[in-house]
Order: sequence, then structure tokens, then C-alpha cells
Amino acid sequence: MGPPTEPTPRGNVTRIVEKSGWEASSELLSVRVPFSTDRYFDDVFTARRTRRVFDPVSLRETRGFIQHLFAPQLMGKNALSGLARKAFISAGALHPIDVIILSGPDVDAPILYCDRPNKFVTLKVLNPAGLEEAVTEALAIQANAKGHVILLAGDRRVVSSHYREAESLLWRDAGAALQSCSLAAHAYGYGFCPLGQLGTGALQSLGPPHEDFAALGLAVFGR
Ligand SMILES: Cc1cc2nc3c(=O)[nH]c(=O)nc-3n(C[C@H](O)[C@H](O)[C@H](O)COP(=O)(O)O)c2cc1C
Repeated sequence: MGPPTEPTPRGNVTRIVEKSGWEASSELLSVRVPFSTDRYFDDVFTARRTRRVFDPVSLRETRGFIQHLFAPQLMGKNALSGLARKAFISAGALHPIDVIILSGPDVDAPILYCDRPNKFVTLKVLNPAGLEEAVTEALAIQANAKGHVILLAGDRRVVSSHYREAESLLWRDAGAALQSCSLAAHAYGYGFCPLGQLGTGALQSLGPPHEDFAALGLAVFGR
């Protein structure tokens, strides 16, 4: 297998682009969860370890964690007004990854975090049995890591509209997102375990536009 094809830009890219919507079935009430840590960066950087034994937390806390990490912060002023940046780096600066909570306490249907409007919506499921099977398989990988199962899904349309040979951008971003989640979980006292399964089965069981997305990884989040 040769090296991945290097993406080449189609034009100037400076902003997080609008993403095309998923078909939502409902919108959840907003949550505000404060996050702070008194740990030093050195401690977080050197002491972080993947945890494989933890318990679930409330849906509110998991949503708060996702929002804290994946929300774009508006920081541009004057001519750069509207410029948004996220906590983690993004190859191509497009931030094409969506986060979907698939299962765990109080999850009756998959919950998508929409970054630009900063809200959570529930998604339609095409194949409930397929989703259940995918989640059961995922939870069995680390049976003592109990919590919300999270799927990272990358929008191919976002990257391919700005770059040729764009697919590797999604994988680079998934790595950055997983590492950021892992560091943040340690800093804030949570457990985070990426799983050796991409989540393709789970993604395919969801409603539109799942065909336009690549499943980039599953993880479990708890405390
Ligand atoms: C993409 C990815 C998939 C992973 N899949 C699993 C997994 O299936 N089971 C597991 O126990 N750990 C998994 N991990 C965690 C790694 O095993 C762990 O991060 C690695 O052994 C380094 O250990 P450390 O995080 O304690 O430094 C995964 C990590 C990544 C980045």
C-alpha cells in the first residue's frame, strides 16, 4: 500500500464551513456544564493514560464535554469577524467531523452535536437492529469501560468541496480529535477509551445523509 494521496486545495479556505444538515427528529434543550481544572499542563501531558475501567456519567455531562471540546469559539474581530476556531487542530481548517452519541444513559435515539449552531438534535435511525448490534459489539471491546458510546463521523462533502484527494484530511482530524478528547478527559477527571472499531455499522444504520460520511472511530466516555 502506497502513501495516502496528498490533498491539494481548490481555493482559499479560511473559515469553518457550514455543514449540510442531518435529518433531525427533535432538538434537545441546551445544557451548560462548567469545566475547569486545577491540574498543570505538564501533569495532563505526561500523566494521561487511556482508561479502560470507568462508570457512566449523566447525559448532561457527556453533552457538556462534547460541547466544550467541539464548539467553535468565535474569535475574529473587524475584518476577521465571524472567524471561528476549535480547541483542536484541523487539517485544512475545515473541521469536518461530527460527533454522535450512540448509546448510554438517557440516550433514546442517536444524538448529534451541531457545532455551528451549538445545539444537540436526535437523529433518525433506518436500521434499529443494526444500530443495537453495532453498539453491543463496541461495548464488548472494553466491557469495563461503561459509558456513552460516541461516534466520530467525517463529512466527505466538506473536505472534497475544498480539496482534491481530500479523504486523508478526515483521518488526520479524527486523530487530533481523539487525542484532544483523551487529554481533556484526563484534565477534567473523566475516562475516555477509543475503540478499535470505526463505527461503520453504526453509521450505516442512521438516516440521511450518512452516505456522505466516513465513520472515523468509536470511543466510550465516562468517569
Ligand atoms: C484509534 C484508536 C483506537 C484504539 N482502540 C482501542 C481499543 O480497541 N481497545 C483499547 O483498549 N484501547 C484502544 N485504544 C487506546 C490505545 O490502546 C492506547 O491509547 C495506547 O495503548 C496507548 O496507551 P495510553 O493511552 O495509555 O498512553 C485506541 C486508541 C486509538 C487512538
